[in-house]
Amino acid sequence: MKNIKPYNRNKYIGRSQNLDLYGVVIERARKNYLIDINGKEYIDMLSSASSLPLGYERKDLVKAYSDQCKKVPHTCTVYTYTPIVEKYVKRLIKTSKIKNAKVLLGAFGSDSIDAAFKCAQAYTGKKKFIAFKKAYHGGTFLSLASNGFDGIKKNLYLPDLFKHVNYPTSEHYKKTLLDIEKILKKGNTAALIMETILGDGGIFMPSPEFYKNIKKLLHKYGAILIFDEIQTGMGRTGTFWGYEQFKIKPDLFCSAKGLGGGYAVLSACIGRAEIIDSLTNCQNAFTLSAHSASCAVGLRVINAIYEEKVMENVKKVSNLLRDFFEKNLKDSKIFLEVRGKGLMLGIALRSDKSIGSYIGKLCLKEGVYVGYYGENNNVLRIHPALNIDSKTALEGAKRIVRAVKLFENNQEKYSKDTFLSFFTS
Ligand SMILES: Cc1ncc(COP(=O)(O)O)c(C=O)c1O
Repeated sequence: MKNIKPYNRNKYIGRSQNLDLYGVVIERARKNYLIDINGKEYIDMLSSASSLPLGYERKDLVKAYSDQCKKVPHTCTVYTYTPIVEKYVKRLIKTSKIKNAKVLLGAFGSDSIDAAFKCAQAYTGKKKFIAFKKAYHGGTFLSLASNGFDGIKKNLYLPDLFKHVNYPTSEHYKKTLLDIEKILKKGNTAALIMETILGDGGIFMPSPEFYKNIKKLLHKYGAILIFDEIQTGMGRTGTFWGYEQFKIKPDLFCSAKGLGGGYAVLSACIGRAEIIDSLTNCQNAFTLSAHSASCAVGLRVINAIYEEKVMENVKKVSNLLRDFFEKNLKDSKIFLEVRGKGLMLGIALRSDKSIGSYIGKLCLKEGVYVGYYGENNNVLRIHPALNIDSKTALEGAKRIVRAVKLFENNQEKYSKDTFLSFFTS
């Protein structure tokens, strides 16, 4: 076994970026496999928290980047730009199906969320926002303030602009609509932000009834609707954008993670032109935004998702996985349910302890890489690449089931260990 001391990143990287929950150091990746520095292989059922929709070894994405670099890697868009940027944003806008849409490009999901908040304030002339409890929207100053977890805001004096309400599951949606209207009546709300499916909070589906009512309600009080599609977008739920599942279009939405296929760092805030253009004078300009080589990759990612019928694969593999987990975990006392849509799946476990983190580690032993999330960190996060083949996905699922059973049969032994916590509420 190699000595991993030289990779002791605790020493060099600040704690806030250094969760290192698994303590595994990855040296390379092949298609749907991660390989650590000891040569151990793991089926990747996490795809870097949904950042690699097309998996590893994508020569076309590397080529798109390097071809553009050979021409010109980037020109600061404050002064000028390159044809690839226009070609890319036109293609991106087409996926949104929003009429007369425009785009603001950035690097991370968090900056696209900030962009949406700024646009909303400038457009409506109002100050405040409504967001949801247990929602995660990012780590920049404003997006951090919008998160529905309190632990993540500890020791910080964040802007006091957000009111949090319960995510509108079928259980909560009527009350949530009433709570929202009560806040809107104060007349100072610029926008409501929501994930089309609640992700890091443990995967909760919204009530379709909520989506039938919310936009009209917001517009009645001069506020707008922002969707966070950072996790749900790029085909993950089986449609290109999550909102297509619910037959609703937002005023603005944000994308990142898979937007650059994991090969380029790219984010976008997309929406109605008049809202996007409420910001002027470099109010959302960054030196490296609309980075040409990244846009070249972004264009190739969108085209590949359509050309390779990736969303059809998402639906097929999703059904296989769901059936497999339900059938093979039904007798487990700690199994609650499979949640989610497409390849944004969560295995919810019965526990008020963070057992997801423990089972995540046992999954590594079994040779499969998963994440975990949820209020008590007890939902296993299954977000593989969207083009994963059925055989590999099912082998990954078998290993996950083995890890769950291993935990269940040895709970006494494991419960003495400290459970790692990701988000704290
Ligand atoms: C739903 C959602 N919104 C926003 C973000 C923030 O994106 P980023 O980490 O790229 O800034 C994330 C990241 O996990 C996310 O899952």
